[in-house]
Amino acid sequence: MSFQMPTLPLRLRRLRRTPALRALVQETTLHVNDLIQPIFIRHGTDVRQPISSMPGCYQLSVDQLSQEIAQIVTLGIPGVLLFGIPSHKDKDGNISCEKDGIVQQAIRAIKDMAPDLVVIVDVCLCEYTDHGHCGPVNEKTGQLDVDNDATLTILAKQAVSLARAGADVIAPSGMIDGMVAAIRDGLDTADYHHIPILSYAVKYASSLYGPFREAAEGAPQFGDRRTYQMNPANAAEALREAELDVAEGADMLMIKPAVAYLDVIFRIKQQYPEIPLAAYHVSGEYAMIKAAAEKGWLDEKRVVMETLLSIKRAGADIIITYYAKDAAQWLRNSAIGLTA
Ligand code: PBG
Ligand code: ZN
Repeated sequence: MSFQMPTLPLRLRRLRRTPALRALVQETTLHVNDLIQPIFIRHGTDVRQPISSMPGCYQLSVDQLSQEIAQIVTLGIPGVLLFGIPSHKDKDGNISCEKDGIVQQAIRAIKDMAPDLVVIVDVCLCEYTDHGHCGPVNEKTGQLDVDNDATLTILAKQAVSLARAGADVIAPSGMIDGMVAAIRDGLDTADYHHIPILSYAVKYASSLYGPFREAAEGAPQFGDRRTYQMNPANAAEALREAELDVAEGADMLMIKPAVAYLDVIFRIKQQYPEIPLAAYHVSGEYAMIKAAAEKGWLDEKRVVMETLLSIKRAGADIIITYYAKDAAQWLRNSAIGLTA
């Protein structure tokens, strides 16, 4: 008996036959408009300090920003996310609210160079506290306890100070309950009604922030962040975090990290299709690809583009990534996305 090949009603390979056909039916496309480049700004002058666990990334002093900003603008990247490394720290991180703080200076410099570039600022205290936690630590309890409500007051002050310096978007990253409401109230009271909040609504207590903590010099000096950042095991809880932040007035939401949490990105986008959603492809995700590429084990460009596309496919509208400049360059060089 010979096998009779059935007539297949559907032949999906028909639409994969040529690069142009594949491009035509491609569902998700990565665009340079989706990308945000993070920048680390360090106090001092003439600093261009490589970050060893993030090859290709640097701590830059304000006077060294012009080349970086020019490149970002030329590539057409719409925005940057700023982190500051201040000259000194204290227990409450008050230096983050100073008019001439490191990020405040950087914002003014960037706005002089590129007034249209969207300047997003990370609002948190871990780079400014001497203990490295995301808010003042309550000493009375004897346990690690970041004082929620004391932190809110400082975060609101920090946000207003950054808005005053010219920031376009405020991005609180501390996972402190009520941070969006407190910052919204602070901004509105100071007449910054027009400044939106991009909340790091769903931020996990992830092992993938290691290189960032070297870059931003904000590692906790004791304990960890598990009493404020989310348990990686939880996804339903992410919906509650998002719900609260939306109710408090968040204009955009963020999920962080990205690749290990694509299911969470998907769920949040399903729940809030109308709210712009950002995903942070974090330092550890960057470092893993870099390391494998340096060893010649992976094709860096193809892995990066596939990764960023996957983050978008899962539901992110905006991707914050240390690969933004590279991706923007690669997108320019290839008319047909991934296949070129
Ligand atoms: C500060 C902050 C962190 C990151 C962004 N903002 C570190 C942390 O929470 O420990 C991580 C970014 C990255 O790893 O690229 N709250
Ligand atoms: Zn923090």
